[in-house]
Amino acid sequence: MASVPSLASTVQQRLAEALTAALPAAGSADPLLRRSDRADFQANGILALAKKLGGNPRELAAQVTGAIAAEDLIAEVEVSGPGFLNITLTDQAIARTLAARAADERLGVEPAAAPGTTVVDYAQPNVAKEMHVGHLRSAVIGDAMVRILEFTGEKVVRRHHIGDWGTQFGMLIQYLIEHPHELDHEGGEEVSGEEAMSNLNRLYKASRALFDSDEEFKARSRDRVVALQSGDERTLALWQRFVDESKIYFYSVFDKLDMEIADPDVVGESGYNDMLEETCRILEESGVAVRSEGALCVFFDDVKGPDGNPVPLIVRKSNGGYGYAATDLSAIRDRVHKLGADTLLYVVDARQSLHFKMVFETARRAGWLGEGTKAVQLAFGTVLGKDGKPFKTREGETVRLVDLLDEAVERAAAVIREKNDALTDDEIAERAAQVGIGAIKYADLSTSASRDYKFDLDQMVSLTGDTSVYLQYAYARIRSILRKAGEDRPAAHPELALAPAERALGLHLDQFGEVLAEVAGSYEPHKLAAYLYQLASHLTSFYAECPVLKADTAEQKENRLFLCELTGRTLHQGMELLGIRTPERL
Ligand code: ARG
Repeated sequence: MASVPSLASTVQQRLAEALTAALPAAGSADPLLRRSDRADFQANGILALAKKLGGNPRELAAQVTGAIAAEDLIAEVEVSGPGFLNITLTDQAIARTLAARAADERLGVEPAAAPGTTVVDYAQPNVAKEMHVGHLRSAVIGDAMVRILEFTGEKVVRRHHIGDWGTQFGMLIQYLIEHPHELDHEGGEEVSGEEAMSNLNRLYKASRALFDSDEEFKARSRDRVVALQSGDERTLALWQRFVDESKIYFYSVFDKLDMEIADPDVVGESGYNDMLEETCRILEESGVAVRSEGALCVFFDDVKGPDGNPVPLIVRKSNGGYGYAATDLSAIRDRVHKLGADTLLYVVDARQSLHFKMVFETARRAGWLGEGTKAVQLAFGTVLGKDGKPFKTREGETVRLVDLLDEAVERAAAVIREKNDALTDDEIAERAAQVGIGAIKYADLSTSASRDYKFDLDQMVSLTGDTSVYLQYAYARIRSILRKAGEDRPAAHPELALAPAERALGLHLDQFGEVLAEVAGSYEPHKLAAYLYQLASHLTSFYAECPVLKADTAEQKENRLFLCELTGRTLHQGMELLGIRTPERL
């Protein structure tokens, strides 16, 4: 494995050297290099430098140009405008760099210089409840971040903080005690995810109805909460059955999503029960939390309700019960102290931002989050329906996630069937799953997470525009060309001059590692999606301008096949980091 420095970073370095050589007074000045469509790159740093050193920027620029020693790399430097440098690379430099990328399994992408340990909290549905589109977003974005971070060399610990604790279990368990056969599976048969959920739904509805209409049942349910919290064995065993039944359902959904969720990573709210008391004690003893109207609270200067009164974070309620905050604070202690995390990443709905702001600040005050640790909420927006309102069924109910996934796969099957009539039903089913699920993931990942987005299946499975199907077709087309050419690993021919579309494609391919580093650092997977979409667009222009199989010479053909192959591997790797499959044929 050999990392390949990007052309941008090499040029940047040569320019910085030229700057210091021409203008020793400049020290280590940044040439401020960026991609440009007038030349390959433009450097704007000389303007600021001229201001600082008090010279004529165009003259300084000319001096720097004279000092650039890089015939092998740079074909032309032109001073333009008030003192910009327009830089054009040699074709050989581009081709050689790409050949070095192609020789490496990681496409020459350099691992992070100082990887740390990140705990990613994502895909956190709630026990005994249907999963909804919000859980979909957390799962899709979180899974992509996990893959991207791991690719950079970061140690990642996954945590699925499922909602598996709370007063609603009193009612559910009590109902099960009074109707003991409700969760029995006949003959010990395995139930499907759908069946598991429908069992839970039925139980939830029935116990809720009883809870609302029968005062005595309500009282028994409340006692059951106490029994659960005090660790009563029989109560706990029944609680466990709800958790297990729910997991059957969760795993079936994750499976549909083509997402691997490992059991040891599912550490729900209940996983921190043993720490809650201590968390409260530390907070109270250190004065971070104070008692207010019987509750244990943390106050913030800048968090006030509509009436102007401070809104505290309640760590323990006045009845002694612990809520969401106590669990999250205990989880921070666990993740930092036991798991050794230096970064905590929470992929959670933006509507919980105030909660996390208060939890993080409390953990800082308590010293659980110190100088070297950072906590970030990767906050995502709401999923909207076509009408621009929060996504609901016509009856106003939350849309069942499974129905959406099934529908996406069906639509994808229709699209695929229309394009190929020679495929068998099994082939169609396999590809439809990869295309349909990919479409849902890509639609989510291609808009900035913080923004709300419209859930529009027609658009998602469209063959044109910024969709995963477009990218998957680009990949499949490359594979088909390579099959036709009978070439698996075509070689580059750096001696050949490149056509404009080849240079554009090549320069874009070279940016892959930089884009990944940025995405990993800013937690913005949509920038990877945008990069891949641009890559596919460059490929389309390349095909239009440069015949591949019918190129003029054998070298030309192999060089173009080489570009196709590297583009294919980059697309494949990028899509894999987004959790999306790239079928070999479509
Ligand atoms: N289960 C919660 C929900 O459905 C999300 C949990 C987020 N993670 C956390 N550590 N609080 O909204």
